[in-house]
Parts: sequence; C-alpha cells; structure tokens
Amino acid sequence: MELLARAKVLEAEGRDIIHMEVGEPDFPTPGPILAAARAHLDTGKVFYTPALGLPELRQAIAGFYFTRYGSRVSASRIVVTAGASGALLLALACLCEPGSEWLLTDPGYPCNSNFVRSFEGVPVCIPVRAENNFQPTLADLEEHWNERTAGALFASPANPTGTLLDEDVLASMAESIRKKGGQLIVDEIYHGLTYGRDATTALDLGDDIFVVQSFSKYFNMTGWRLGWLVVPERFARDIEKLAQNLFIAPSTPAQYAALAAFHPDTLAILEDRRAEFGRRRDFLVPELEKLGFRINAKPEGAFYVYADCSALATDSNAFACDLLETTGVAITPGLDFGSHSPKHHLRFAYTTSIERLGEAVARIGCYLAK
Ligand SMILES: Cc1ncc(COP(=O)(O)O)c(C=O)c1O
Repeated sequence: MELLARAKVLEAEGRDIIHMEVGEPDFPTPGPILAAARAHLDTGKVFYTPALGLPELRQAIAGFYFTRYGSRVSASRIVVTAGASGALLLALACLCEPGSEWLLTDPGYPCNSNFVRSFEGVPVCIPVRAENNFQPTLADLEEHWNERTAGALFASPANPTGTLLDEDVLASMAESIRKKGGQLIVDEIYHGLTYGRDATTALDLGDDIFVVQSFSKYFNMTGWRLGWLVVPERFARDIEKLAQNLFIAPSTPAQYAALAAFHPDTLAILEDRRAEFGRRRDFLVPELEKLGFRINAKPEGAFYVYADCSALATDSNAFACDLLETTGVAITPGLDFGSHSPKHHLRFAYTTSIERLGEAVARIGCYLAK
C-alpha cells in the first residue's frame, strides 16, 4: 500500500509509472454489463433487494455453475455479497468462534488473517513451498491441525502466486477436515482466469464446503463491489440473518448489472480478455527469468507472477522501493503476503499491456546492469 501511494505521488509529479503492483484487471467493465446497469438506473427503482440477493441473479449464478462446470448447485445455497470480501466476512462471521484457529497459507491474501481476527479467531499460517506449487498439502494440514482448529481457508488460483491447488490434494484435505468436524472455505475468486487448464470447483467435492467467488476479477467489475458465497444448505438461514444485519442487502444497481455478466456476448468479451492475460503471462515469465528472477512454481492463473529475487537482491522491499524511485516500475514486495521468506520474493501483476510489460522489463534490465 505504501508503494502504491508512493507510485501515485511520483505519477502526480509527472513521472511515467508502469503499474505492476495493481491487483485488478486493467480492462473496463464489458459493454453489455454497463448497458444493463444503465437500463436499470433509468427505471429509478433502486430499492433494497432481499438480503441474500436478487432471486434472478442467484438463479443465474446457479445456471453458470451448470454451464461452466457441469455442477448442479441449488440457487438456495447462493448468497450475493459485497465482493469476495463480503463473502469471506459472512462465512467467518458464521463459522469463527472466539479463540478458534483457522489455517491459512503464507504467502497468501493478506486480508484473510484480518478477517479471522475480526471475529476473535486466531489465524495460523502454513508456510507453503514452491515444490508444492505454493499450496498446502494434506501433510501440512495434518501437521497444523489441533484441537483448537475450526477450519481452513485456501485459494485456488492463489494470490500472490497464481498457482492452483491440485484437485486430488484438495479432495483429500476436504475429506480429512470433514472427519475432524472442521469447515473448509475455498476462495475461487480467480476462477475463469486460468491459462492452459480450467480450474474445477470445490463444490464438486461435497455440499458441505463454503465457496467464495466474485464479479471483481474474471468479470472485470472490481468497483461494483459484488461477489457471492455458496453455503452448505444447513447454514443458509444463519447466513441470511447475518447478511440482513451486517449489510441489509448487496448493491441493487450492481446486481442488475451483473445479470448481464453471464450472457454469451459478455462471456465472449471475457474469454478474449482471458486469452490476452494468457499471452501476457507467456511473455512475462520467460522475460523475468532472463533477467535473473527465478519463477519456482509456474503461475497457472490469476494475473500474478511470484518471483524469487534472491539472486539479484537481499531484501525485496528495499529492491521494490529503489526500483520504483529509479525506474518508475511499481511491483509488490513479498512482505505484503506473509512472513515466509518475504525478503526473497516479489509479486509482478500483469494487469497492463504487453507493450508496457516489455517497457518494464527493459527498465528493470537497465537497472540491474548498473
Ligand atoms: C484471493 C483474494 N480473495 C478475495 C479478494 C477480495 O476481492 P473482492 O472483494 O474485490 O471481490 C481478493 C482481492 O484481490 C483476492 O486476491
């Protein structure tokens, strides 16, 4: 965040900053979604919706699980939320008892620990390693689980690494957690943004798993603040009561806009953009390797490359700060994502054009040559 603020200051002073620290797509919201929003706003009927979301949107999301994954999910299990953030808050508000421990990954999405702490839970971070694709294994889970552990929250593809959880590993962890009487939450916010193979949804591993999703990333709707949570049927009523109390309802205009998110013409736009993200990844990874960064686990999704910079710098934070000041290239140091060897890692976001990525690579090359 400090780096982002500094990048903005430099930009305001007239410097040309290449933003590779930004965790949101650079593409605007697709036209059909904007048109649906405008049409709804023209009716003036911007009233509260039910707390769980517009019934037709919940139905559309259920339909999307069937067309995209072949998975049958009842609309009664779908809760429309204020982004994945709202979904994570609701899930933890429902499941997290004071003093209970929650297994997370390190590196991982930094807000997760704070969500757990918000409900007086204790975040326990599993240091995940490159040889395991920066994802937890069943052995990691067993090692970190104890009588105070209430559940685990993992993401696939993950931020900051862009790596996927192996389906068999996730299935074995789901089974193990089930046997222990714990709860599994899987954050699938980067689904749709995978390059090569499609991710499978954890919903196929059992109807007792909470799944978090969002319109932010694949659907290019970050600022609309809309996402969803799929809950086991037996929690639906508790989640509804929490949603009524905490949020009243998700944003009405955003929900009407999102009704157009699953239309074929919108999906065609999104698939073109997914292909472009794939081309950017395929450009950036080898270029960073040529510069001397080590990419120890191939990023298969999201729009991040988590690079080991230990051959080039001793402290990634100092490196990122100096790189920004000297070259105008903004990247995120590992310390934003945890305390497991953060000094050796940097996150590069390819949320800018290949031309700009090429310019960034050239600037970093000159910087390293000095
Ligand atoms: C892994 C992960 N989960 C959740 C979020 C929250 O996203 P939003 O609330 O915009 O849907 C983010 C945002 O970057 C993320 O990277």
